[in-house]
Amino acid sequence: MTPQDETPITVRRATAEDRRAALELISPSTSRGRASLKLLRAEQGILWVAVEREEGNETLVGLLLATAQVDAEAEEVAGYIHELLVHPAFRRRGVAMELLDAAERYFLDECAFSTVLVTTSFDNDAAIRLYRSRGYSLSQARLAKRRNDAEGRSSAI
Ligand SMILES: CC(C)(COP(=O)(O)OP(=O)(O)OC[C@H]1O[C@@H](n2cnc3c(N)ncnc32)[C@H](O)[C@@H]1OP(=O)(O)O)[C@@H](O)C(=O)NCCC(=O)NCCS
Repeated sequence: MTPQDETPITVRRATAEDRRAALELISPSTSRGRASLKLLRAEQGILWVAVEREEGNETLVGLLLATAQVDAEAEEVAGYIHELLVHPAFRRRGVAMELLDAAERYFLDECAFSTVLVTTSFDNDAAIRLYRSRGYSLSQARLAKRRNDAEGRSSAI
């Protein structure tokens, strides 16, 4: 499929219906996904969605879920991105960039916060490249050491 054949994708603040559809896109197989699902089910968080419109039908193809949080280190309120997710079939089309544009516009321009924060793992190459390309820099490292048998114990509970 060439870029000319691709149907247009629109990014907007989520409606109540979008929030329900978002529950289907987020996978509960990761702790990040489970936390995001809890936020959405509690009707919390600010959600932006990317939708593809084709012949009058809309399909949810991406989302960004964020909240305002106190950044303890900087002692100020910051935008915090909990989830940025694009359906695999719609990746590398600039959808994440558009979702980030919308969230950054809201937090940095509308709310006048000075910072947007996000946490991702070092091995998430796509996310690291994406955020770095937009000027995000590493501000702190969170290190963890797990007890050798910790995984086995937690799955046995
Ligand atoms: C990370 C993710 C959100 C990117 O979404 P996307 O819509 O494909 O990203 P974009 O098309 O806007 O990419 C913008 C830039 O990010 C970087 N990037 C995105 N995906 C990449 C990949 N797989 N490998 C390397 N760089 C990548 C590139 O610099 C890209 O620009 P380019 O396409 O001109 O090279 C998507 O891969 C995803 O949903 N991953 C699973 C969830 C996740 O890891 N979320 C981030 C943690 S919060």
